[in-house]
Amino acid sequence: MRVGYAGHTLIIVKNFIKSRFCLLLYGGGLVLHKVGVIGYGYMAGWHHSNSNRIEGLQFTSAYDIDPERLKAAEAKGLKAYASREEFLAKGDFDIVLVATPNNVHMEPAIAAMNAGKHVVSEKPVAMSSAELEAMTEASVKNGVLFTVHQNRRWDKDFLIVRKTIKDGLIGKPYTIESRVHGSRGAMFGWRADKEAGGGMMLDWGVHLIDQIMFMIPEKVKDVYCRMFKVKTPDVDDYFKMVITFESGLCAQIEVGTYCLKPLPRWYANGDSGSVYIESWDCQGKILQAKVKDEKWSHDVVAKTAAGPTRTMAPRTKEEIKEVPLPEIETDWADYYTNILAVLDGRAPELLVKPAEAMRVMKVMEACFKSSETGGTITLGI
Ligand SMILES: NC(=O)c1ccc[n+]([C@@H]2O[C@H](COP(=O)([O-])OP(=O)(O)OC[C@H]3O[C@@H](n4cnc5c(N)ncnc54)[C@H](O)[C@@H]3O)[C@@H](O)[C@H]2O)c1
Repeated sequence: MRVGYAGHTLIIVKNFIKSRFCLLLYGGGLVLHKVGVIGYGYMAGWHHSNSNRIEGLQFTSAYDIDPERLKAAEAKGLKAYASREEFLAKGDFDIVLVATPNNVHMEPAIAAMNAGKHVVSEKPVAMSSAELEAMTEASVKNGVLFTVHQNRRWDKDFLIVRKTIKDGLIGKPYTIESRVHGSRGAMFGWRADKEAGGGMMLDWGVHLIDQIMFMIPEKVKDVYCRMFKVKTPDVDDYFKMVITFESGLCAQIEVGTYCLKPLPRWYANGDSGSVYIESWDCQGKILQAKVKDEKWSHDVVAKTAAGPTRTMAPRTKEEIKEVPLPEIETDWADYYTNILAVLDGRAPELLVKPAEAMRVMKVMEACFKSSETGGTITLGI
């Protein structure tokens, strides 16, 4: 069964109305929503320690298979459970955050939804589109909310490029490059293990593909990808991919863990300008041509010792207008605030929808297939 998102939201709202009176009302009538964590590792600790910024949200409980992590949860004031059945049956929470290794998202998420809990899953939401389909079906069947922590939609560098393109500041875009270059070549623990869902496509690719697909509201025509195992024998620790959209716009995404000279985080070209952002510190510029369509001149020449070029002669500074990057305010807390608003019937829909996660998942599957077969994979999604 395919799951439509509009119906999904309706079911959630109906379910909320049923359960609203079971939840604690506090200050100004806001409903307090409580979170139980499955997998209290590094990222769950991050969610927990940032949750005090979100009004109406409280982390109460944790389940983990590692006794040390249960001790860590207790030390941070959570009720710790060594049995998942007991956690789901007795825990004092209505939302479950699934923050286990990548290959352990589907099964606990479905168990939590079958126990009537809303689920926030860490990214990548699942290992395949078939797994994600099963998770979405469980959410619809149980009338509970289900979303994915695609937190990098709140990254400032991303939002600056999105606004630059949306406001037409580089004209009609024809290429967008998005990359993350690490230099340490180090992948550790389950991230270096293929079975556990390790590798850069599932780790960083999922963020960068989600950003590009959120930024460009077009169908994906096809996908091409090459993956390498440079320093990590079992998983991709470098990949380069190109998404071609229906209009012909190409987005190149590159993630590497062993690139000693990092290239700009963002670089995009349109038919009247370019934009670049060096890094997460958001240093960069928009460059616009003062004259949009140049007249050909034999007088403008660049030379190497081996020959001249008129086509590639660079513009002078006077021929280029430098425009500062747009100002952006962003707050990651809006991710959870939206979830609470949907649960309480104050917002019509989730900011991160399962149907969007499904498109990203299908693009990632196409990337693995493209890299294996050496071909371009037609999608039309
Ligand atoms: N959105 C982001 O910015 C971001 C950043 C880092 C990690 N993540 C994601 O968060 C998830 C966790 O990553 P991490 O870095 O916290 O890993 P981690 O190894 O630090 O934590 C995982 C935890 O899950 C526990 N665990 C393993 N199997 C379990 C099971 N069957 N049941 C219950 N607990 C189990 C482990 O004991 C560990 O405590 C991954 O999916 C990862 O991709 C997201």
